[in-house]
Amino acid sequence: MHRKPSYEELERGAEKLKKERDALSQIIDNTPHGIATLDKKGNYLRINSHFTKLTGYTLDDIPNKKKWFEKVYPDEDYRKQINQAWNKDSDKIGVGEIREFKIRCKNGESKQIEFRSTFSKDQTISVLTDITQRRKAEDALRESEERLKAIFGANPDPVAVYNADGHPLYLNTAFIDVFGWTIEELQGKHIPFVPKDQEKLARTKIEEIYRTGDSVRFETKRFTKQGRIIDIFLSAAIIKDYKGMHNGLVVNLKDISNRKMLENQLQHAQKMEAIGTLAGGIAHDFNNILFPILGHTEILLMETPEDNPTHNRLQKIYKGAQRAKDLVRQILTFSRHGSVELKTMKLQPIVKETISFVKAAMPDTVAIEEHIDDNCKAVKADSTQIHQIVMNLATNASHAMEENGGIIKVSLKEIKFGENDLISPDMKPGTYICLSIADGGKGMDEELIKQIFDPFFTTKEKGRGTGMGLATVHGIVKKMNGEIRVLSEPGKGAIFNIYFPEAKS
Ligand SMILES: Nc1ncnc2c1ncn2[C@@H]1O[C@H](COP(=O)(O)OP(=O)(O)O)[C@@H](O)[C@H]1O
Ligand SMILES: [Mg+2]
Repeated sequence: MHRKPSYEELERGAEKLKKERDALSQIIDNTPHGIATLDKKGNYLRINSHFTKLTGYTLDDIPNKKKWFEKVYPDEDYRKQINQAWNKDSDKIGVGEIREFKIRCKNGESKQIEFRSTFSKDQTISVLTDITQRRKAEDALRESEERLKAIFGANPDPVAVYNADGHPLYLNTAFIDVFGWTIEELQGKHIPFVPKDQEKLARTKIEEIYRTGDSVRFETKRFTKQGRIIDIFLSAAIIKDYKGMHNGLVVNLKDISNRKMLENQLQHAQKMEAIGTLAGGIAHDFNNILFPILGHTEILLMETPEDNPTHNRLQKIYKGAQRAKDLVRQILTFSRHGSVELKTMKLQPIVKETISFVKAAMPDTVAIEEHIDDNCKAVKADSTQIHQIVMNLATNASHAMEENGGIIKVSLKEIKFGENDLISPDMKPGTYICLSIADGGKGMDEELIKQIFDPFFTTKEKGRGTGMGLATVHGIVKKMNGEIRVLSEPGKGAIFNIYFPEAKS
């Protein structure tokens, strides 16, 4: 049976409860979070002291939610937005979504507050945490990250940042423009742009970076996504993290194709110039030596009866000396020592004449097809030189088709180049006469094409080729302010297009 508690016992119990309540409200007041309870009508029931510390407001300022909203969200649009967010929770029981808003405190200060609410049947408990500092730090971090990204992106040279596995982490805009890959395509992969013959160099340099910790700089080549090879000046350095540990590489890949091309052109021009001067000097001496040989042989030939065996020998000497004279003439043209005066003329007659001349010397398996446009305008030229050009190109074409025979197509037509379709920076917009000699012979690869205009470059056996043919053609065309283009692939024949500028009288 229960007995009624005595008065003292009741007092003790009440004392104990009061102590517990004080302890609880102390805990609530001292947590570093604002805590508020509201009834279902939106009236504030209690707020802890940290709430007032955080916002400046007491229960007198904010008897209900409506007042709270008006005070802390003075901007009407913002207030509406927040109302809508909370309305989603109107029927909710349990823990609500975590929300974040900017409030205005009683002293006018703005604070970024994180709200966590718990909803029960008859009340709502809201916990407010001040995250102003955290957000500020995050914003600062994001800002500095964005600034770095902008600097990285604005760098006009391609830059790639690699992680410690050698996979790209970032590529700047210039990289994407020049090489064609985006970071998404290369995620977790090595960039497939090191040509085979550059792999060893790349490996050695990476080893060097990691061994010495110093940056490296070197010239190399890289593929683009389209498979084009470009000349690159590469500089690379280790990235260290805040503990000083290696964390990958930053690599600058400056496209120096243009500079390389100009360098090569200059080198080539200088080489031609030097060979020209040298060959020209020798050719002059040669001419002087050949002159009496030819002259005296001619006299001896006249003086020797044809049935005399010596006549045949003299004939051979004469022919040999004649060939030497032709070669010397070619060298002189190429070296520009034989200065000629260019005259305004139409090319049609001289091209036709030369074709009929070379036809006679061609093997039966080779035919020549002519497509000469009689309306082509005049150019400034020397007929002997045009003869040389056609002779040389036609002879080469015929040599290229030696094995299987075929047709050489010679055409002459007019072509207009506008500002945007010029094929060389040396050309000016205008009308050009294009002489084209195409064959279906063995063709040439890229490496070979690079060398064919070099003086004395030949792939033919001794006595067959002198290697001066195309060098001469090149010399003549350049002097006429023209351009040469070669289109060829191994086994697919070759087309030599020569563009002469129209004569302006
Ligand atoms: N139409 C062509 N088809 C294939 N190869 C050619 C053609 N024209 C020129 N070549 C190549 O270019 C080289 C140089 O030509 P060229 O200067 O005329 O000298 P040569 O004919 O004396 O060898 C040739 O040896 C040949 O390898
Ligand atoms: Mg030749």
